[in-house]
Amino acid sequence: FQSAASFIPPRLTPPALRRAAACCTGCDLYRTATQTVFGEGPRHPSIVFVGEQPGDQEDRMGRPFVGPAGALLNRALAEAGIARDKVYVTNAVKHFKWEPQGKKRKHKRPSAAEVAACRPWLQAEVSVLKPHALVCLGVTAAQSVFAKTVRLSELRGRPWDTALATHVFVTIHPSAILRYPDAAARSEAFGRLVEDLRRIGRFVR
Ligand code: URA
Ligand code: SF4
Repeated sequence: FQSAASFIPPRLTPPALRRAAACCTGCDLYRTATQTVFGEGPRHPSIVFVGEQPGDQEDRMGRPFVGPAGALLNRALAEAGIARDKVYVTNAVKHFKWEPQGKKRKHKRPSAAEVAACRPWLQAEVSVLKPHALVCLGVTAAQSVFAKTVRLSELRGRPWDTALATHVFVTIHPSAILRYPDAAARSEAFGRLVEDLRRIGRFVR
């Protein structure tokens, strides 16, 4: 089976991880993506946020959460009183998976095998950063962190300990909020995200 495990450098430091991940061919996703999008943030973050995978803009820029989902996450963090520069953001899968839709590149959900293949990078990031809390944004992140298929409703609202990290929270992915067609539903879901983030902010304080 495919895995990033053999690409993890012997000495775990954030720059060493970033350099090594840039050359990862642990699964086939590197073939069709522009570049590895590694996690980004301070050396001692209070919280590590884990998304699914880079989006179209992240793939072009080589940085996580710089597109629409990132903008929504930033707004939610601000409303919850969590300083953006104190948190580290990364993804369960480090390469953009997409399928053509006309001239556009349409996001495609990573398979369980791809999530498992990329998990060593997330594990290395968490072990080197040692955050006070880890937040899974959506079920793909939770699938990696809990190492099983999970449902948001089962895990939302309280901290968990997993093999990958302690003090793990699960909340909705910002992209899931952006996909709601109805403005009222979007605003309600955004409110719930902010509520979750407030609780997490109190937890790490
Ligand atoms: N969605 C994610 O899950 N991660 C990103 O970096 C951007 C969008
Ligand atoms: Fe390596 Fe992860 Fe990219 Fe696959 S998605 S090639 S495991 S960095």
